[in-house]
Amino acid sequence: MAIVLGIETSCDETSAAVLENGRTIRSSIVASQSDLHARWGGVVPEVASRMHVERVLPTVVEALEHAQVRAEQIEGIAVTNRPGLIGALVVGVACAKALALAWHVAVVGVHHLVAHVYSALLADRDLTFPFVSLVASGGHTELILAESEDTLWTIGRTRDDAAGECFDKVARVLGLPYPGGPALERLARGGNPDAVPFPRAWLNDSLDFSFSGLKTAVARYVSQPDRKASDADIAASVQAAIADVLVHKAIQAAQRTGMRTVVLAGGVAANRYLADSLQLACESNGLRCVIPPRDLCTDNAAMVAAAGYPRLARGETDGLELDTVATDFLPYRTVE
Ligand code: KG4
Ligand code: ZN
Repeated sequence: MAIVLGIETSCDETSAAVLENGRTIRSSIVASQSDLHARWGGVVPEVASRMHVERVLPTVVEALEHAQVRAEQIEGIAVTNRPGLIGALVVGVACAKALALAWHVAVVGVHHLVAHVYSALLADRDLTFPFVSLVASGGHTELILAESEDTLWTIGRTRDDAAGECFDKVARVLGLPYPGGPALERLARGGNPDAVPFPRAWLNDSLDFSFSGLKTAVARYVSQPDRKASDADIAASVQAAIADVLVHKAIQAAQRTGMRTVVLAGGVAANRYLADSLQLACESNGLRCVIPPRDLCTDNAAMVAAAGYPRLARGETDGLELDTVATDFLPYRTVE
C-alpha cells in the first residue's frame, strides 16, 4: 500500500489529499466554507452539506492533479465517517464509496479525532507512539492517550463547550467577527492577561474541562457599565484563562500516564499564546512538545489519510456498507 486518497467533509471544510507511504503528503487541498458561514455567525449544517456536494469531486480531482497521480495509482481511500455534521459526513462517505467501487480499491472510515491526533505524525517524522494529545477545536476539546496505531483512549473531555466554541462565543460578546478565535487573539495582543481574573474550572482531580462558566462570566463582565478593563484586556484575560486550563491539564495528563510527549492539535492550536504556554510548560517539566503547523491543525484530509493508512496497509476494508455517525466518542479511560 503506497498511495492513499483521504477525504474529509465532517464540518465546513471540503478536503482531499494524496498521501504516500502513510507519512508523505503529495497533495492536500482544502476548500474552506468559512466566509460563507460568517454571515450567520456559525456553521449552518444544511449550507455545509450543499457546498460539500458541489465541491467534493472537484477537490478530489485537484488533489490528484496536484500530486501528479492518476486514479489507477490510488490503492485505498480513507474517509471521515464519524463524528460530525451528519449531512456533511454523508457527502464525503458516499463519494469515497463510489470512487472505491469505480477504482476497485478498499475504503476505510476514520474517526475525526483520531485523524487530528495523526496530524502530529505528519508534522514530526520522529514522533512515535505512545503519546498524549490535546485536540482543541470548535467542536471538540479532548485529551487523548494514543497508546498505539489502533489504541486511543479519551482520558479527559469537555463537559460543555469546546475551547474553540468558547473563543467564538466570547468573541461574539465583544462584537468580533466569526470565526472568533483568530480575531480574539489579534485583539488580545495589545491587552494585559492579568487584567481580569476570569474563573478557571479546574474540576478537582479530573482531566475533564468546562468552559461554559467562563463564557457566562465574560458576558456578565462586559455588560457592566463601569467596567475598568478595555476590550483588549478582556480578550487577553479570556485567552489566558482558556490556555491556563488547557496547558495545566495536558501536563497533568502526561504525568499521570507516564508519557514523555505532548501533542497539541485542532484549530485552537493555531493560537500563539496557547502554543507558547504549552511549549514552555513542557520544557519545564522535561516533556517533548509537538505542535503541527496551522494547515495540519485545522480540518484537512491529509490527517484522515494518515489515520486510515495503517488499516489500509493491513488490507482491512469497511466495505460499501460503511455508514456515518454524528456523535461518536473514543473509549473513555479514567487515569488517577
Ligand atoms: O479544527 P477547526 O478548524 O474546525 C473545527 O472546529 O473542527 O477549529 C476551528 C476553531 C474555531 O472555534 C476557531 O475560533 C478556533 O478553532 N481557532 C482559534 C484560533 N484559530 C482558530 N482559537 C483561538 N485562537 C486562534 N488563533
Ligand atoms: Zn476537526
